[in-house]
Amino acid sequence: MKYPFICPLCHAPLTEQDRSLVCPSRHCFDRARQGYIHLLPVQQKHSLSPGDAKDMLEARRRFLSRGFYRPLAEDVCRAVREFAAADSPLLLDCGCGEGYYTALLEQTCRCSCIGVDVSKEAARMACARSKTIEWVVATASSLPVAGGSVDVVTAIFSLFVNDEYARVLKEGGIVVEVTAGEDHLRELKERIYEEVFPQDKAPPPFGDAFREEALWERRFSFSLPQEALMELLRMTPHSRRMKRDKAASLETLSGLTLTAHYYIRIIRKKRSGSL
Ligand SMILES: C[S@@+](CC[C@H](N)C(=O)[O-])C[C@H]1O[C@@H](n2cnc3c(N)ncnc32)[C@H](O)[C@@H]1O
Repeated sequence: MKYPFICPLCHAPLTEQDRSLVCPSRHCFDRARQGYIHLLPVQQKHSLSPGDAKDMLEARRRFLSRGFYRPLAEDVCRAVREFAAADSPLLLDCGCGEGYYTALLEQTCRCSCIGVDVSKEAARMACARSKTIEWVVATASSLPVAGGSVDVVTAIFSLFVNDEYARVLKEGGIVVEVTAGEDHLRELKERIYEEVFPQDKAPPPFGDAFREEALWERRFSFSLPQEALMELLRMTPHSRRMKRDKAASLETLSGLTLTAHYYIRIIRKKRSGSL
């Protein structure tokens, strides 16, 4: 097995036998026909189909494939190239969704990649983005990889799980985290909600295991034609929260110019002597 996967039940190392991953206690996990590995036991599932649903993922795939978030993706790749200590890092993209960013990271950062998402549908779709990335269904709160085995964790509009990221990273390894800023998609929210309340969107605090290397704040504008606007809406939770009349009025627009506003935070796991 090329990657240090561990059994989600007993945490012993997994080895690949035929199309299954097996631990010494004979817990066995099959590789799906599409290529992903399902390492989310029922005990770790909090619903029947956890994570993003198929319609959201399909909308996200269509929207991201149009390239409107390419500047954001390039910022993430730059952060990995600039701050990863290893020349050919092992990167784990946590909450990878349908794999847009993971695939670009693999292409541009000389890294080997594991894409983890709790949604089975996400892993299934991600298989079409790259055959060399290991796509895994698992939860961020119990990642099925050995402690101290990963050089980079990326978390792009997903979760920050301090203790688990600290466990899986090597000493000197980094987390590259992307979070939405206060003004992210503001023009869309103003059309959806009666009032948009100002929110503090600074990235969440991190624990003693890490020190901050950099915090980049970025903004850019992008103009969406109607079709892409609807895709963006469907890939966010807004489409489920908004009132019907607001949805109808968005459908009449020929397009909309929007602000992307986000933070990229790079934190490094301290070496044990420097804790
Ligand atoms: C907003 S989406 C971002 C996806 C991707 N990073 C992107 O930006 O296109 C968040 C993703 O996190 C996944 N997710 C939610 N809870 C999770 C968990 N506990 N562990 C792993 N992934 C999770 C969802 O299924 C979803 O694909």
